[in-house]
Amino acid sequence: MSDVKQPIPLSTQRAGALTGRVRVPGDKSISHRALMFGALATGRTRVRGLLEAEDVINTAHAVTALGAPAAKKGDVWEITGRGTGGLSQPEGPLDFGNSGTGTRLMLGLIAGHPIEVSMIGDASLSRRPMGRVLNPLRQMGLEVVDDKDKLPLTVRGTDQLLPMEYTLPVPSAQVKSAVLLKEATRDHTERMLRYFGAEVRSEAGAGVTRITVKGDAELEGRDVTVPGDPSSAAFLIAAAVVVPGSDVTVEGVLVNPTRTGFYTTLKEMGADVTFLNPREEGGEPIADIRARGSKLKGVTVPPERAPSMIDEYPVLAAIAASADGVTRMEGLAELKVKESDRLAATATGLIANGVDARVEGDALIVRGSATVKGGGTVATHLDHRIAMAFLTLGLISDAPVTVDDARVIATSFPEFRGLMERLGARYA
Ligand code: S3P
Repeated sequence: MSDVKQPIPLSTQRAGALTGRVRVPGDKSISHRALMFGALATGRTRVRGLLEAEDVINTAHAVTALGAPAAKKGDVWEITGRGTGGLSQPEGPLDFGNSGTGTRLMLGLIAGHPIEVSMIGDASLSRRPMGRVLNPLRQMGLEVVDDKDKLPLTVRGTDQLLPMEYTLPVPSAQVKSAVLLKEATRDHTERMLRYFGAEVRSEAGAGVTRITVKGDAELEGRDVTVPGDPSSAAFLIAAAVVVPGSDVTVEGVLVNPTRTGFYTTLKEMGADVTFLNPREEGGEPIADIRARGSKLKGVTVPPERAPSMIDEYPVLAAIAASADGVTRMEGLAELKVKESDRLAATATGLIANGVDARVEGDALIVRGSATVKGGGTVATHLDHRIAMAFLTLGLISDAPVTVDDARVIATSFPEFRGLMERLGARYA
């Protein structure tokens, strides 16, 4: 969203039953990785179902600028790989727009090349901490030319990258939980590196998981099919669950267990959600997810579940507004450093719409009620998931809920409004 000029507010209000079968666009995490590993591989990588949202398109432009052209041919994206170590110096700065994932993963790629690269992004991205990747990469040989840990940033990589052993620091309850409680973070990088031919070992033991990648791996261009994004499907499924009488199926969704914490939580809340036709595609488990209108009850979501549903807390908090009782979401420190401070943005937006919500340390607490007032305008702070979460709240509110700028949705899910309208929602 670097070229944001005029905000476009959007409102929605109480919906009748939502029904239908739809597909959501490809998973954002896997799309970024397919482009980047395709660029590092030898030969051609063909990607079906790539997410064509701003974040991923920025990564496609970045790999192209680094000498590995990514372009759409028919309905397939083709990347001409340069082989490991084969990326070249871009002519100008790489613009990652709103995308922390694009920036952080790309820093890892650049580190292994003797090139100097400037990286820029929008106001949200320029506030986000990069030290968490720059520090270990510095130890491996990356030079941070302007010696800071936020964008805009210039870095210089090396072809003499040092191997190292790195223990994740514990800057947050989320990371601490992930480490101490053996709760896995998403593992698409390990899966896709193996698929492209790298040697990756992952050993769990004594409270930590040790992941080892053999250096100078030769990656080979592959065909990748990107499954539907469970973080996008979450908005449709959440809406189906809270709008009475709904029956919605989202087909072909990634159900990798490192990503399905939201669906586990919905089931604990009493939601009628089922995974149908489980199957595998491109080394990842997928399923069709069916959700029907349900009566929800409040639950406590434990901190160790956070990594597997980190992007779903805003929408979970929105639907918790209509649950019977209190929903307590714990261990959310990482939410403060997402596209916005999602902990504060979610609580503030809920309160503005008459919902009993509060932040207590790193926890978000929502007391549900049979009626949600609505009528408030929510500041999205350049955060796509805040926008979509509050447009979901509007579907169960007495008065319309408005988000101050709906254009941000295009960073991850440009089809959101069209798909919701197909299911029966209305926006103005
Ligand atoms: C992502 C990891 C998560 C998530 C982000 C995508 C990824 O971030 O919030 O949307 O693709 O690796 P963190 O691992 O920094 O929590």
